[in-house]
Amino acid sequence: MATTAVTSHAQDYPGGKPITIVVPFAAGGPTDRVARDLAEALRKSLDGVSIVVDNTAGAGSTIGNAKVARAKPDGYTLLLTHVGMATTPVLYRKLSYNYETDFEYLGLINDVPMTVIGKPNIEARNMKELRDWISKNPGKVNLGNAGIGSASHLCGLLLQSELKADMTTVPYKGTAPAIADLLGGQIDLLCDQTTNTTSQIEAKKVKPFAVTTLKRLNTPALKDIPTLDESGLKNFQVTIWHGLYAPKGTPAPVLKKLNDALKVALKDPEFIAKEEGLGAVVVQDKRVEPAEHKKFVMSEVARFGPVIKAAGAYAD
Ligand code: MLT
Repeated sequence: MATTAVTSHAQDYPGGKPITIVVPFAAGGPTDRVARDLAEALRKSLDGVSIVVDNTAGAGSTIGNAKVARAKPDGYTLLLTHVGMATTPVLYRKLSYNYETDFEYLGLINDVPMTVIGKPNIEARNMKELRDWISKNPGKVNLGNAGIGSASHLCGLLLQSELKADMTTVPYKGTAPAIADLLGGQIDLLCDQTTNTTSQIEAKKVKPFAVTTLKRLNTPALKDIPTLDESGLKNFQVTIWHGLYAPKGTPAPVLKKLNDALKVALKDPEFIAKEEGLGAVVVQDKRVEPAEHKKFVMSEVARFGPVIKAAGAYAD
């Protein structure tokens, strides 16, 4: 009987029942932005189903990740998160979930560049002056991030080890609250994704110092911002990918429907235009396939391991 029940549910999925996408960061930040834009596109390819975004923030995304790992594997609770899926296993000695075995990988969504931005009245006018200012004020420059394991934390970690700089890091539940404090001058610096910073840069509300890609970006508001590589941090490159996940054990027909819907959503011109308008690139390669998505994340864990260990930034 149970098998029949599962089969019929899987065949009718989503059957008009709302789907929740858990975002492990505060509302209004870049991860939340990707989730809401993707939900719009997914809705179209899943018979107009209602999709709710649930911001479960904290501990650099690990609280939201754990919530989905424990959720009922029925396809109605999904996780949208980013590079944190690969950095947190290295950074946290104890996690209440296993990134490899507790999730079904549904496909990769996008790659997002980052920008190093300063508070409105920061005295440095370029990366050279910023490096000098930081080195003259050891421990005094406040660098915001979204918690240990966040993209902003990873970028800040790499930036500090490249600059051999000693900054005070200020964690938030996401880079939406972090950028609010940057605008208010409570913190001095933030490395955040272009999906969150493009509008602030366009409105000249923050001071952009550099982008974290090896080539300058094409987005009109970002095209004149130098790369960190050309600013002297040779080969400095950080781009933040986002992926979609379901709890382990979600029925195969449901997983297939979700992956099929994701592939359609990633071809949605409206979704692509929104992403590209904010400097992001929608994944159109084999990483949209679940097996390739998982392989990619495993390779990122292997890549970040030594880097993070070298920076010695563990959480407990
Ligand atoms: C991050 O730094 O990981 C993200 O920008 C956090 C967020 O989406 O708010």
